[in-house]
Amino acid sequence: MQQFTAKRFSIPALKGISAKTIEEHLKLYEGYVKNANGVLDMLGKYSADPVANAYVMGELGRRFSFEYNGMRNHEVYFSSLEGGTTPLPEGSAFKKAIEGEAGSFEAWLVAFKSLALTRGIGWAVLWYDRKDKRLLASWVDEQHLGELNGCDMILALDMWEHSYVADYAPSGKKQYVEDFFANLNWEVIEENYARATR
Ligand SMILES: [Fe+2]
Repeated sequence: MQQFTAKRFSIPALKGISAKTIEEHLKLYEGYVKNANGVLDMLGKYSADPVANAYVMGELGRRFSFEYNGMRNHEVYFSSLEGGTTPLPEGSAFKKAIEGEAGSFEAWLVAFKSLALTRGIGWAVLWYDRKDKRLLASWVDEQHLGELNGCDMILALDMWEHSYVADYAPSGKKQYVEDFFANLNWEVIEENYARATR
């Protein structure tokens, strides 16, 4: 069966987020890739008798979106930290789209940071809705609950505790969000937007 392959990321030294946290976090990412493959393998085996194995296949099917999205969410997150801090180009199509949605880039950023502080584990995500050609921001619980159907992930901020607790302590969540944006390569986000809108 076709396998998913873990991508390699080259993450530079970051403000606030330690190399050790990134190293551990990448191991967790690789676990999602492995488990996504594992679920598909098991489904393949159980499919020899789908009636007798209906219950276990149903549960594996439920599990798959957690593992798969855990893989893809992290790919967006880690790629946005590659290449070093890079500002969002003035007058870019993406910046204009944000300004169109939120009035100003600054207003959007304040709202997105607030979204990231949603209680619980999950992700703050900026999406591009291809159907209505607009940006949407939403919270995703865990890895998969609340992903927006048919939308492309433009920016993904991991708010699971493994992303920040070793460096910031639980009470430092807000500073982690600030540092994530300080470390962000906006050119990657711009490219994610360009790819989604092509
Ligand atoms: Fe994570």
